[in-house]
Amino acid sequence: MNESSYVECEDDYEEEEVAEVDFRKEGYRNDQLYCAHLMLKQAWNGNFGAPVNDLLSSNSDAKVLDFGCGSGYWTLEMATEYPSPKFYGINPVASFPGSVLPRNVEFIVSNVLTDTLPFKDAEFDYVFARNIMFTFHKPNFESIVMKEILRVLKPGGYIEFVEEEIIEGHNRGKALMHWNIDGLKVWLESQKIDYEIICRFKECLQSTNQLKDITEQKLKIPIGKSNGFIGELAAEYIMCTVKSMADNLMPIMNLTNEEYDHLVEEIEKEVKENEEEYNAYFHFRRYFAIKM
Ligand SMILES: C[S@@+](CC[C@H](N)C(=O)[O-])C[C@H]1O[C@@H](n2cnc3c(N)ncnc32)[C@H](O)[C@@H]1O
Repeated sequence: MNESSYVECEDDYEEEEVAEVDFRKEGYRNDQLYCAHLMLKQAWNGNFGAPVNDLLSSNSDAKVLDFGCGSGYWTLEMATEYPSPKFYGINPVASFPGSVLPRNVEFIVSNVLTDTLPFKDAEFDYVFARNIMFTFHKPNFESIVMKEILRVLKPGGYIEFVEEEIIEGHNRGKALMHWNIDGLKVWLESQKIDYEIICRFKECLQSTNQLKDITEQKLKIPIGKSNGFIGELAAEYIMCTVKSMADNLMPIMNLTNEEYDHLVEEIEKEVKENEEEYNAYFHFRRYFAIKM
């Protein structure tokens, strides 16, 4: 299947939301973040959806912010591909590389929940944020994160969000469904994370009254090697996620270490060995818009 055929629809939209991060886990998440980075880049045929290629190309003096940059994979690739703009990655912990950067990259430790972003108003031409919704408690996303991102974005600048949908179903196997519904969702709720925010994100962006040309794109990613490289990456991404959530989910699911390990094995069988039987997939969405 051609990767671009995974893109199901386009529109407009907006959003709000989410919880808090366990900073101690940051180091465990690098593989998961890299899988997600590769998978999304492959599936969407590139690192971004907003029409910013011209803005970033040749002698550009644009400034780009990767909000919640994590390990910095997106920032580093974009800065290499587009050497003229200046790229900033901010994250509350220094999970990004400390040296050997492209010269047009600066990573900054900053926590938007405790301090305003360390930038002037209207400083950025393009602000990108990926997989950050499940990091913030419900009121904080709209009241703090969106507000700050919009503050540092120039009028005429682009904003872009890329997020995973977490909903029931997707023809997932029994073990993965159990993990998702009885584990992950219960944990997200216990953290007061609104995991359905992504489904209302278009309205959320609209409600800022500061954005126009809001575009929504949905991506269906099939899981398992029978779906090629993307399917393999998707399976690996799920396994990294399941493993990295062990400490959070074992008490919620009332499982011992051994029982959780067994669940991991069952999920691995579903997504790596018998994937054709389960025909599992998940959805990502991305949204981009222009600040008025
Ligand atoms: C799932 S990771 C995604 C990382 C990166 N955007 C990517 O796509 O690889 C979520 C990131 O949000 C960051 N984050 C958590 N709280 C934050 C805050 N208050 N301000 C900025 N970033 C935050 C986390 O540290 C983490 O790196």
